[in-house]
Amino acid sequence: MKLDFITLFPEMLQGVFGSSIIRRAVEAGILRIDYTQLRDFAFDKFKQVDDTPFGGGSGMVLKPEPMFRAVRKVLANSRDIPSVNRRILLMSPDGVPFTQEKAKELAKYEQIIFLCGHYEGFDARIVTELVDEAVSIGDYVLTGGELPAMVIADAVARMLPGVLGAMDSAPTDSFYDGLLGFPQYTRPRSFEGLDVPEVLISGDHAKIARWRRKESIKNTLLHRPDLLEQKELAEEDQKLLDEIEKEIHL
Ligand code: ADE
Repeated sequence: MKLDFITLFPEMLQGVFGSSIIRRAVEAGILRIDYTQLRDFAFDKFKQVDDTPFGGGSGMVLKPEPMFRAVRKVLANSRDIPSVNRRILLMSPDGVPFTQEKAKELAKYEQIIFLCGHYEGFDARIVTELVDEAVSIGDYVLTGGELPAMVIADAVARMLPGVLGAMDSAPTDSFYDGLLGFPQYTRPRSFEGLDVPEVLISGDHAKIARWRRKESIKNTLLHRPDLLEQKELAEEDQKLLDEIEKEIHL
């Protein structure tokens, strides 16, 4: 997969993607990451990428010309990738919410181009003409689109085959199945008087699976009841939920 970032601050992303799992994915040839400096596409002598909003108001707005030119350059450099296999995303708190489901969907594309803005926002013609989708990482406002782009790229990259090790696979993730995760333990069995639950050392795989499922449902009920409400529970899960609710109300 090819990831392109159009940004005024490529060094923010280079630092993050230059380490850990993403770096390994790049070295393994699974990912290719390119950065495009938006300011290089400003054509006046001051290299101005933003301007005051028509109609008045505070803050600055990203001008359309540099962004259009930058996107066209990235597209010209990606002629081998059919446009149906590409997604152009704009980072904005006004976008659709980013979720694990969305990460899975985006992981199917061959190329994602991230448009990262600063200032008050983008000229609306960028949004309507250049972009497939505006995406938000949450109901809060950040100083720029670089952090959201990194969050989305990271979540998408780890869905790609070969990026995570076999020991570290996605099926046990929170949200994989519309539920939060279950507690994990490792050695030592007893730490400062805190013991690992007996069931996990029982060797009984069916019992362990049932315990984990129940803990997932319990976590979801306690921290994200909205997820449980959206989920169609299988009979076995409903039984576990009934047990949990009884235990909680004891
Ligand atoms: N830019 C500023 N805040 C943002 C957010 N919450 N999500 C995506 N892009 C943003």
